[in-house]
Order: sequence, then C-alpha cells, then structure tokens
Amino acid sequence: MPPEAANSSFAFGETSLAKVDHLEIGLVPAHVLPPEAANSSFAFGGTSLVGDDHLEIGLVAASVLPPEAANSSFAFGETSLVGDDHLEIGLVAAGVLPIEAANPSWPEGSAEGASVADSGLTGSASRVQAAGMKGERSTTIETWTGTGSGLGGTTWGTEDVWANTRRPLPEALGLSPECYTAPDFHRFEQQRLFERGWVCVGLAADVAETGRLIVRQLGSRSIIITRGADGEVRGFLNACRHRGTELADRDCSVANTIRCPYHRWGYGLDGRLIATPLFEQVPRVGFDTADYGLVPVRVEAWGVLLFACLDDQAPPLHTWLGDLPERMAGYRLDEWVKREEQTVEIKANWKLISENYQEYYHLKWVHPELAKVSRVPDHYRYQGPGMYCGQTTSPVSADERNDWLVLPPRPGLDSSDSTSGRFVAIFPNVLLSVLPNHVFVIRLDPTAPGATTETCSFLLPPESADVDEAAFAPTRKFWFEVNGEDIDIVERGQRGLTMSAPPPGPLSPRFEEPLHRFHNMLADCMTLESVGTISVPAGDDGSEHDRWGTGVNPNPPLVDS
Ligand code: FES
Ligand SMILES: [Fe+2]
Repeated sequence: MPPEAANSSFAFGETSLAKVDHLEIGLVPAHVLPPEAANSSFAFGGTSLVGDDHLEIGLVAASVLPPEAANSSFAFGETSLVGDDHLEIGLVAAGVLPIEAANPSWPEGSAEGASVADSGLTGSASRVQAAGMKGERSTTIETWTGTGSGLGGTTWGTEDVWANTRRPLPEALGLSPECYTAPDFHRFEQQRLFERGWVCVGLAADVAETGRLIVRQLGSRSIIITRGADGEVRGFLNACRHRGTELADRDCSVANTIRCPYHRWGYGLDGRLIATPLFEQVPRVGFDTADYGLVPVRVEAWGVLLFACLDDQAPPLHTWLGDLPERMAGYRLDEWVKREEQTVEIKANWKLISENYQEYYHLKWVHPELAKVSRVPDHYRYQGPGMYCGQTTSPVSADERNDWLVLPPRPGLDSSDSTSGRFVAIFPNVLLSVLPNHVFVIRLDPTAPGATTETCSFLLPPESADVDEAAFAPTRKFWFEVNGEDIDIVERGQRGLTMSAPPPGPLSPRFEEPLHRFHNMLADCMTLESVGTISVPAGDDGSEHDRWGTGVNPNPPLVDS
C-alpha cells in the first residue's frame, strides 16, 4: 500500500460516497477478505481480489465511467477499464468512480491468517503452512535441507536401487517403503519428476477467461498461468524480473497487466515487461524492457486438462500422452463443463493414491457398493503407448445400483464409449475417470512425503451441464463415498509403510500390471539425466490376454493395439 493509502481514515473494507461523482474505498488487506471474494462472478458491486493489494469491482458499466477512467494507465490510484462491464482499481482510487458504483455489497465473512505449524518431522525438515483465502485450501511449502541422496548411502538416481522394479512383472516387487515416506526421496522425486515432466496443473476451464491467473507449484517451483487477450494460455515462473518477488500468491484475475507488488513493475498477459514506474528517472545504460520479460514455462491443454512442464528437454505433451487423445477422441472432452470442485487433504503419499486408483484388485473388499455398478469381471486393461496406466469397465452396469446412470449420457457416443467407463492414471498426477454421462478428475499435488492435496472436479457434457441439483446429487454422493473408502485405505497404507517399513512385496501379475508400468515410469524419471531421452511405454500388444481381463470384452475400446 502506498503512503497515501495508509493515511486513510476508513475502516477496512468500508466505502463512502464522496461528492456526487466518486467513491472512496478504505484499505482492504487481503487477509481480511472473505473466501467469497476469491471467486467473484462479478455480480453488481461484488468484489474480487487481484493480487494482494487491490480489488476489482463488478459491474460498473463503461457508459457511466468518467473520462479519466477510460484513459488510465493503471498506475497507483488509477483505474483501468476491463471489458465494458466493470472497472479495475489500482489502489484506493478516489475521484474517478461514478455515483452508480456507490452500491458495493461487501460480502460478509473472514479468512484465516497465516500460521506457522511445526511439522512434527524429525531431522532437518521444516514446514510452514499458510492458510489460503478459501477455508478449504492451503498451501504447504516444504523446505528440506537434505543432500538429495537416499538414505543409508542409497542414491535414488542410480539403476541399482530400482532392480526390483526393473524385473519382469511376474518377478517384480513393489517400491521400497522409503519411496513413500523418506524426505530425501520426496525431495529428489520433486526435482526429477515434478520439475521435469508434464504435470497436470488444473482444468482448462480454470483459465477460461482472459486475465484469469492461477498459481501452481511444480516441485519446489511456483508458476503462474494466464490466458491472454489473444486467447493463448501461457505459463511463467512466478517471479518478477526486477528483484525476483513472487508475483501472485493465489489465483486471481487481472485486467491486462500482471503487477509486481514490490515496485509495481507490470507485465502483459504475454509476459512482456510493459511498465517500470519511475525506473528511468535516472536512465540505465542499455536498459531494454525486451530483455526482462517473465520467464516462460511450457503449458498445454488436452481435453479438459491443463498441463505444465518446467523442462525444455521433455518431449511435447502429445508424445507424453501417446494415443490417449485418439482413444478419447469420441468424448470431445474439450467441450465438457466443470460442474464443481472440492479439495481434500490426504495423509498419504501421492503414489499410494495413484496406485490404488490403478488396480481393481481391492474393489470387492474396499468398495462393496461400487462393485455393484463396476463389477470386477467387467474390467479390462486399457493401455496404448503413452505415459498412462488405464483400465476400462464395460459395460458400466446397473446391476444393483444405478448411481452412475442417473444422468443422461452424452449424445453421439459410439457403442463402446456409451456403455463403458475409462479409468486412466496419467503420469504422474492426474486420475481421469470418464463415463458416458460425467467425468471425475482427481489432481494430486504432493505436499510432503506422507501428504497430498487432492483436487476433485466433476465435469458434465454440455448437453446436460445445467441439470438440477437433484439430478446431479447421486453422482456426487456415490463418488465421494467411493473416494472416502479409497482415502481410508491409502492412509492406512501410509501408516503401515511409515511405522513398520516392511520389505517390498510381490505385485499381482493379473491385477497389478499397471502399477508395474507406473513404477517403471517413475524409475525412468528418477534415473535419467535428461527427460529428453525418456522412452514412452508401449501399449498392450496382444500377447498378454490373460492379464487384460476376464473373458472377451463385449465392447472393445476404439483403439486397442
Ligand atoms: S521486485 Fe518486482 S518490481 Fe521490484
Ligand atoms: Fe478404490
């Protein structure tokens, strides 16, 4: 906040009409804003946090704005038009708002402030947890001061330690407990995998509008992703090119400029440096703003999913995904609409959650109800070339329960897609469940060796996106029952691995082939010096019919070679 704002006599969030042609706004620090402010839909007078230090105010029609607003360069205290329906305010701008803006309805509520929590972990780890704007969300930053080598002199980057994984499936063992519990392993995995591979960072819908900006963590790096006026989605390191300050600490919306909160350098949505207030008062020799744009990060969307990758050597996303886009083409996933999202904190390593998703060995015992609509004998392997592990259920049955069949199927699906469920774990961190009438996405963000943030999203086909709550509720209820059962069992798995650290056990050749594939993808990432040389696993070649599923698949997937 600038000094002149600090002298405001207004209470936080208070507003006052001054004269007849403008509005004064009191100081509104981020931490006193209510959760609702982070998700403004720009109702009349609604507000939305933009960065840490200013607000957007909804619905101030352009036609009622004074000339000063239209010419703003959006420096301190100035304003900027956003589209033609609302106004963005830099900082406590007095004198430019019209009388019609004098009806803000400040949402009620409060948000938690930052807190420091002891991790309870031993050794050199420290953990700081800062509560975010939304009550259910939090960001955990782990700082490890380990060496990057494994425990007891083991080095996770060498092939030797992966010998059990590299064996053929009938002889292979699961991963060592340290892979799920050890801080050194976690740190190295973050560097080797999450800072080098294609990582799911959300849904394409998360940056649907121009100026929407999301903040994500890839390993130890923070990135921002935004959509420009040209429709292009771009990613950048979340750091100012002046002196490195974090640009955004939460998802927000900006008009056309990403402002650094420190000295207000401004960047276009394409990353170009476009404002350096006061910087040229005494010119620098050879200073050229073209040299100081934001550092780009690779970002690509496929279907409903958004991915980012920090490593220029990694193969393109379409190589990473292999034949999955072709396999899923019939669903036209890019048209599906996000219905709702929930975030869950799970006390388990991210790999346990993914592995559990990949096998239906546990189905009968952990999910007796799910087993009624997704019967074990109706499961088949569903894997072509690509960094993913998958299974399909065909048909999705209404045997005893019909929870999955309440919503109408998307029109136009072929005979296989319209009767099947596709359950695909895209390496490393997204679990994509595609049914004829809904999609359930789980994104896994590891926050510690034994902790994962799980973001669950429901999507519906455009034809039924706005079904009423009564129609949608059974689908939600059923998934959360099933997911709750999975969470209980993976947390139990984490406790066993952490407290007893048993030697690795055998994988079931019949049911756990996807885990073997997954473990080998992990081993590749951990051992390769460059992911540029990673080999994308091949698909099923027809030689393992006994492991594909029981009997003949009545609805073979479209692509099955
Ligand atoms: S650090 Fe960003 S403007 Fe100075
Ligand atoms: Fe399960």
